[in-house]
Amino acid sequence: MKELVDNSWEWFIDKFEILSKIDLTAYKRPQMERRINSFMRSAGASDYKSFLELIKNDALLYRKFLEHITINVSEFFRNANHWSILQNEVLPLLLKDRRSLRIWSAGCSTGEEPYSLAMLCREQRIPLTEEILATDLDQDVLNRAMQGIYSAKAAQGIPPTYLARYFSSQGDQYQANEDIRRMVKFKRHDLLRDSFGRNYDLILCRNVVIYFTEETKNRLYQRFTESLNSGGVLFIGSTEQIFQARELGLKTIATFFYQKVN
Ligand SMILES: C[S@@+](CC[C@H](N)C(=O)[O-])C[C@H]1O[C@@H](n2cnc3c(N)ncnc32)[C@H](O)[C@@H]1O
Repeated sequence: MKELVDNSWEWFIDKFEILSKIDLTAYKRPQMERRINSFMRSAGASDYKSFLELIKNDALLYRKFLEHITINVSEFFRNANHWSILQNEVLPLLLKDRRSLRIWSAGCSTGEEPYSLAMLCREQRIPLTEEILATDLDQDVLNRAMQGIYSAKAAQGIPPTYLARYFSSQGDQYQANEDIRRMVKFKRHDLLRDSFGRNYDLILCRNVVIYFTEETKNRLYQRFTESLNSGGVLFIGSTEQIFQARELGLKTIATFFYQKVN
């Protein structure tokens, strides 16, 4: 086995994986290294060893660090034009030969994406086979997602009619109503370690793989394809593209939407 030089990057990610079960080798190194080094400096540590000691002994700092490296910004109806394609083209296509849909939002962060789906399905009267599955690596964002409470600024992304129908205001915040919250099941899931479910009709994985290496992305897209039913659709982020779509058995039906061929 390779000896790891104390305090090197390799040494740090090895020790960090033991602590957190997060495999940083799957993420693009330059960005990750920059993010980690800047966080480490602002925490007052001068090297990886002392930084590791700090996060081991300070639960709050550890949580902040996880949040920093997993980058969990999200928005309701992020890239609204893609959601229009979902509503007007993709959902009708899926419902041509299905009575109900099984949906997974992978890397759901604080819940904006699965709640956007829930509202859209309610508005469009889309029958769901079961609750929308919404997963993320980070338990903290999932806890926030389950509460469904958002600032007025975050709520700006919600169309006013939806906001009035599906949210209640609480001071200067808004909370998703219980019937919308009940449409989503949140669960911790690591896309790099945990097994994937099967038989999904629609999978969203948006703005998650951007931090992964090409090799990791390819493996993930393969696993998502295996998780889809024949004819099912994978919806990806606005800066992403699946280069080996055809080899995986996917065809592009609109920009950012890939359908499983068989
Ligand atoms: C930028 S947010 C994307 C949120 C939402 N999909 C959107 O597009 O607005 C990326 C999320 O991916 C999650 N993530 C990063 N690595 C992950 C992994 N290995 N497994 C599951 N989720 C992961 C992060 O915790 C973060 O919440």
